[in-house]
Amino acid sequence: MAVDPLLLAAVALALLHFGVPLAYYLYLRARWLRRPWSIRRDPGYRPRVTVIIPTYNEAELVESKLDDVARQDYPRELVEVIVVDSVSTDGTPEKVEEWARRNPGLRLVLIKEPVRRGKAYALNYALRYASEDIVVVTDADAVWSSSDTLSNAVSWFSDPAVGAVTCLKLPAGKGLMSVEEGYREFYNVVRLAESKKHSTPVFHGELAAFRRSLLESVGGFPTNIGADDSYTATKIALMGYRAIAVDNAWCVESVPKRGYHMWRIRRAQHLVQHFMAIIKHLWHAPRELRKILLVETYLHLFNPWILVVAVASLLYLMRIRRSGYKVLIDGREPLLHLKIPPFEKTLNKSSRSGIFVQASKHLASYLSLKKAYALYEALKVAPVRYKLEYVMYAMLPVTLLLVSFHSFTLFLVILAVLSLSLMVYSFVVY
Ligand code: GDD
Ligand code: MN
Repeated sequence: MAVDPLLLAAVALALLHFGVPLAYYLYLRARWLRRPWSIRRDPGYRPRVTVIIPTYNEAELVESKLDDVARQDYPRELVEVIVVDSVSTDGTPEKVEEWARRNPGLRLVLIKEPVRRGKAYALNYALRYASEDIVVVTDADAVWSSSDTLSNAVSWFSDPAVGAVTCLKLPAGKGLMSVEEGYREFYNVVRLAESKKHSTPVFHGELAAFRRSLLESVGGFPTNIGADDSYTATKIALMGYRAIAVDNAWCVESVPKRGYHMWRIRRAQHLVQHFMAIIKHLWHAPRELRKILLVETYLHLFNPWILVVAVASLLYLMRIRRSGYKVLIDGREPLLHLKIPPFEKTLNKSSRSGIFVQASKHLASYLSLKKAYALYEALKVAPVRYKLEYVMYAMLPVTLLLVSFHSFTLFLVILAVLSLSLMVYSFVVY
C-alpha cells in the first residue's frame, strides 16, 4: 500500500514542531546545564546601582514593590531608586510619595512623565536621571525571591565580559514554588544553559540589569519592540558581551487574574517583534551566540506555523478522503480521489499537455489547495521541462527564506514583487 506523500509531510512537520524544542532542551541539558560558568564572579562585588521601576496605574502594587527593594541586603548608600510614572490615574505617584516619607533611609526619586508613551519611553526618560554604573529595571508586579536577589544578580558584573543579567523565574500561582522545583522547569533550563554557552536572548522584566555604558552605546531601550528588555540584552550580546540569566537570582511575577490569555498573546507578540528585529544581525553574531539565536528565532517565528500547516494538511486529507469522486490522470488513479468540478472533464481527457495547462492555470489562481494538489498529480506525468520549471518555482520560497535571514526589508521587497508578478501572471493567463 502506497503511503500518501501529503500524509507523510504532515506527520514529518508535526514531528519537527514537537521534536526541535525537545531536542534543543535535551541538548542544552546534557551539554551545558551542569558546566561551570566561564565567568569570573566575585560574590562580594558591590558597584553603585540605579534601580528603575516604571509604573502606570500600579497603586495596588507599587508599595510592596518598594518594600521588596528596601528589603534587599545591598548597601543602601550604593543604591538609588527611580520610580518613573506616566500620568497614572489611580494615585500611584501619591502612594510613592507616601512610601518615601515613611522610608527616608532609601534614596528614592519620583519622576513624572508628562504623557504616557509606553514603558520603553519611560525607561529612556528615567535613564537621563540615572547616575550609577549598573541599571536594574524591575516591573511593579515583580517580586524578588529573597533579600540577596539584588546583590547576587549584580555580583556577576565583576567580570567585565558581562554586559547584562536577568533572573530565573519561579512560576507563580500556587504560592511560591521552591527553587528546587524552578530548576526543573523547561524554560529555566533553556535560559540557564544558553547563558553558560554564551547568552540568552530572552530577558525578564522582573529583573533586568545592564551596564549603563552599554545601554548608552545601544541607544537606550527600543520603543518599537514590546520585549524591550530582551531586545536590549541581545543587542549587548551581539556586541560580544555576555547577557545571562543566573541561577542565584530568582523572581516571581504575579500573573494577571483577568485577561490571562490576552496577556499571554501580547507577550508572545512582543517576542516575535524581538526576533524579527534580531534576524538581520544573525550573521554578525559571535559564533556560539549565533547558534542560540538561530534556534530561538526558528522556535519563535517558524515553529508555531509548522504545527498550523501540519494540522491543516491533516484536515485537508480527511476532507478529500470523504469525497468519493474517482479521477483518472493518464489512465492512472491518482493517490487521492479529487472532487474538483471544473477539473473533472479536463482530467478525464487525460492528454498530457492538456492536463498540465489546465492545472497550471489553477496554480496561478491559488484558489484552493485541492487544485494545487491536482497540479502536483499532473506534474508527475508532465514532460521534464515542465517539471524543471516548477522546481525553479518551488525554489523561490526557499530563496526568500534565506534572504529573510539576511535582511527583513529585502524579504518584504521580494515578497511584494513576487505577489505582484503572480497577480499580473494570473491576469494574463485568464
Ligand atoms: N512609566 C510607565 N509608562 N510604565 C509603564 C507603562 C508606561 O506607559 N506601561 C507599562 N508600564 C509599567 C507597568 O506599570 C509595570 O510596572 C511594567 O511597566 C511592566 O508592565 P506589564 O503590564 O506588567 O508588562 P508585561 O507583564 O506584559 O510585560 C513585562 O514583562 C515582559 C517580559 O518579561 C514587561 O516588562 C516587558 O517589557 C517584558 O518584555
Ligand atoms: Mn507584568
